[in-house]
Amino acid sequence: MPSPSILPLADASRLAEPSASAVRKALFWDRIARKYAADPIADVAGYEATLRRVQALLCSHQDVLEIGCGTGSTALRLAPSTRRLLATDVSAGMIAIAREKLAAQPVPQLRFEVADADAPVFGQGAYDVALAFNLLHLVSDLDHALELAVQALRPGGLLISKTPCIAEMNPLIPYLALPLMRAIGKAPHVLCLNEARLTSAIARQGMEIVSVERHGTRGKDIRVFIMARKPA
Ligand SMILES: C[S@@+](CC[C@H](N)C(=O)[O-])C[C@H]1O[C@@H](n2cnc3c(N)ncnc32)[C@H](O)[C@@H]1O
Repeated sequence: MPSPSILPLADASRLAEPSASAVRKALFWDRIARKYAADPIADVAGYEATLRRVQALLCSHQDVLEIGCGTGSTALRLAPSTRRLLATDVSAGMIAIAREKLAAQPVPQLRFEVADADAPVFGQGAYDVALAFNLLHLVSDLDHALELAVQALRPGGLLISKTPCIAEMNPLIPYLALPLMRAIGKAPHVLCLNEARLTSAIARQGMEIVSVERHGTRGKDIRVFIMARKPA
């Protein structure tokens, strides 16, 4: 079977060959895509709070990019509030499921494409908002992925991220459980972030941090919601 094509985000008509590293990264997610789609959301109230927060920031004249969209559930909910939402993921398996959902529930503003957040394929200055949910802890090089996401934004554009900060968990999880699970193929490579490291990395790209929030409703919430603005 041919490997999936990675599409430049601003011009999806120009096909680029996937890099070997993008294909490697996609393997884990391709394998678990159906299970990921079937798994229930752990904290529905927290998820809905985030959706409401983001919906309130979107409007019908905005072009929006989502990176690491998974099976597209969030994009399907948010796209009707935008002019156009391009939702991307490195995993062709995830994107295939997202497209099935879109076919069952058409949203004219929404398109799904395979693309690697770590690779220089973003359109420059083409988007008003860049979304990254449960993604930034998974990229190979955080500074580079953020640089690309920021480049994709127009001046004044918003980067909105909600990311698990693994360093805020019991240290046995990042330093023992996750490496063991990774060794047997049950977990991907994960960056050990905390709120300070993540906000600093976003600020290093010249972004103004607008808000840092937690929306979780069940126990300790390690998923930091960060909104940052590209200078106008
Ligand atoms: C934990 S899932 C989150 C999916 C979705 N955003 C959500 O919140 O349910 C992480 C997703 O990021 C994707 N991903 C991982 N590394 C990526 C990369 N370098 N570029 C783009 N997507 C990536 C995976 O394929 C997977 O779909």
